[in-house]
Amino acid sequence: MNSAGKLLSVIVCAAGPAGEAGRLVTLAQDDGWTVQIIATPPALDFIDAAALEKQTGRPVRSRYRTPGEPKSPRADAIIVAPATYNTINKFAQGISDTYALGLLAEAPGLGIPVVVLPFVNSALAARTAFRRSVEQLRSEGVRVLLGPGEFEPHTPGSGGDLIDAYPWQLALQTLRQA
Ligand SMILES: Cc1cc2nc3c(=O)[nH]c(=O)nc-3n(C[C@H](O)[C@H](O)[C@H](O)COP(=O)(O)O)c2cc1C
Repeated sequence: MNSAGKLLSVIVCAAGPAGEAGRLVTLAQDDGWTVQIIATPPALDFIDAAALEKQTGRPVRSRYRTPGEPKSPRADAIIVAPATYNTINKFAQGISDTYALGLLAEAPGLGIPVVVLPFVNSALAARTAFRRSVEQLRSEGVRVLLGPGEFEPHTPGSGGDLIDAYPWQLALQTLRQA
């Protein structure tokens, strides 16, 4: 996908790597994207919103606008990273109770490419509900980067040691190939 001057919405969920989301911003900007950060409400506790706003030049969004506020521009592509168990399951089921999920709810129908890079442990990833969610999203054209060579779930309790190795670059590589 040609990214020059296009808008990439990065949805950040409440998992360990969220505090390093600036790394994805740098990679995306190097690819020519204008980046808009959208945080789930719990992710606000994980990120340095002021630093991300400085880096992107845009306010971090977390809530729906009020009816009188102007609409935000529509994204050309969306990356969800780190994507939690919670948000992946809700996205698959069509739940739209946060601003981030509202954007995701419409994206497949609007033809907006969506790349999901999970950060989940093996106990969560083994749940039938989660496996069904991943299949459901893939059947709708969402690229879920879970499996060998992509994100591989870790042993419960070990996530904190794996934040540095989180493969942010895979999400952008996938968009380049989209
Ligand atoms: C310190 C901490 C680390 C967490 N790490 C993860 C994680 O790696 N993966 C995950 O799916 N949930 C993780 N959670 C749980 C999520 O934060 C929780 O399910 C939250 O409701 C997710 O909300 P969101 O999907 O709207 O971001 C963590 C919670 C805390 C407090």
